[in-house]
Amino acid sequence: METREATSPDTRAGAAGALLADARPQGRPASRDDFGRTIDYLRIAITDRCNYRCVYCMPATGVAFKPHESIMTYEEIERFVRIAAEYGIKHIRLTGGEPLVRKGVCDLARGISEIPGIEDISITTNGSLLTRYADELVRSGVSRVNISLDTLDPAVFHAVSRVGNLEDALAGIDAALAAGFKTVKINTVAVRSLNQDFLGLARMSVDRPLHVRFIEYMPIGDDDIELEGDDSADYQSIAGVAGWSQKDTIPTEELRALISSRGEEAGLGPLVSARGHRPDGHGPADYWHFEGALGTVGFISAMSNHFCASCNRLRLTADGNLRPCLFSDVEVKVREYLRAGDDDAVRDAFERALRLKPEAHVTEGTERYMSQIGG
Ligand code: GTP
Ligand code: 5AD
Ligand code: SF4
Repeated sequence: METREATSPDTRAGAAGALLADARPQGRPASRDDFGRTIDYLRIAITDRCNYRCVYCMPATGVAFKPHESIMTYEEIERFVRIAAEYGIKHIRLTGGEPLVRKGVCDLARGISEIPGIEDISITTNGSLLTRYADELVRSGVSRVNISLDTLDPAVFHAVSRVGNLEDALAGIDAALAAGFKTVKINTVAVRSLNQDFLGLARMSVDRPLHVRFIEYMPIGDDDIELEGDDSADYQSIAGVAGWSQKDTIPTEELRALISSRGEEAGLGPLVSARGHRPDGHGPADYWHFEGALGTVGFISAMSNHFCASCNRLRLTADGNLRPCLFSDVEVKVREYLRAGDDDAVRDAFERALRLKPEAHVTEGTERYMSQIGG
């Protein structure tokens, strides 16, 4: 896979460049990009590996994992966060692949939590290892956890994740709630041909403080994904899902109306806007709830309603590239500068990535798979 590297640092140096150049010596300015957006959220993919192989995220054979030496060390990540904090990054989310498959993730979280300027650390995980790590993550300063869960049907769960099992995910959710994270959110990728029980998933928000978010299925990664030969009915029905197609994305409006009317039929009432009950967070979800529920139901409309105007984030890939936009393969290298101990070059790379943030995304698909970007 080839990634386009951004060149010519100064070609788009506009207001953001001037602001940064002036502000750099004072440290910790609130950075703005060229479109006036405040960028204070960094998503760090700490590994491109995962113990699952979700059909919408990576091919069955797995993505060719990056060699060990090209993955950022924890020392390099911490150094990068220290520099990013000078530019006003306050919120860190650890992603993957599956972040909990990398050894020492709690040590990394502890290290990051001690960096001046960092206000909160969160993690996005498939939940399979949370029974082991939830308590230690909380003790290490991770305040919020987002857990993927696409279905409550064990056979479909296994088929979608290709290797996972539902029991582990549910046990992970229980462990997260018991561990005392500030918020526990569920991420469900809504895919039309999966026939998910959307009300069943949304209902999880009623009796426990769970925030169930439905994400529009996005075209990320090569679209020529092939499923391994398997004749079982589940694999056959899910074969159509591997490889994004427009008809599989369920627009938020449609899904919210469906969950709301099924909620009414089931006596939960319609979904109402969760204005005063929004969970903590820095992402693009729009929150609703069933009256009286302990949690909320959120929608991430990456396809139908671009939230680019309020984009607040940069991404760091596991192999050490800054990615200004989820949907664009334009990236800025930083690993080699960190490795060389050249902090000024790292600062230049950060500023360049800020200036390269596009005004809006184009949903054409990308070369990197989601597992290599971290969502
Ligand atoms: P909080 O709101 O702080 O809990 O975090 P979040 O929703 O940003 O984090 P999470 O990792 O749970 O993200 C959920 C999903 O939203 C991601 O996996 C993506 O599918 C989608 N998403 C997050 N950020 C973006 C973004 O900048 N652009 C697009 N198109 N989708 C995004
Ligand atoms: N479209 C939308 N969401 C996706 N995720 C992975 N692949 C896709 C896709 N193609 C989600 C996962 C997880 C997060 C990291 O990204 O469900 O919650
Ligand atoms: Fe792994 Fe998450 Fe991708 Fe599934 S969606 S393969 S759990 S990184």
